[in-house]
Amino acid sequence: MRRSPPRSGSFCKEPGRSPTEAGLHTIVLTKSGRNISCPAGSTVLEAAQQAGLQGLPYSCQGGTCRTCAVQAKGAMETDQMLALTPGEIRAGLRLPCVAYPLGDCSFEL
Ligand code: FES
Repeated sequence: MRRSPPRSGSFCKEPGRSPTEAGLHTIVLTKSGRNISCPAGSTVLEAAQQAGLQGLPYSCQGGTCRTCAVQAKGAMETDQMLALTPGEIRAGLRLPCVAYPLGDCSFEL
């Protein structure tokens, strides 16, 4: 199930609240060497695009084509990884287009 995109400005911290309390999670992008914030309800792909990361591989944005598949670590909700086998999931492969962080994570992007 796709969720609504983040509202404009949702990447800003709320005064007096920690990033976790404000629903922000830190995503470490290991290939590009960047850390980005991902608000609750946004996918990692959406957060990376909002952060200005260029050239991300993706197509369907629905978990079916596997174009965006990368290694990832951390707690995340991934309810539509239809393109991955159980073995690939056990090996740490994830689909950023349908990955909703539940805490700080890292992705090979
Ligand atoms: S863009 Fe198709 S599975 Fe992620």
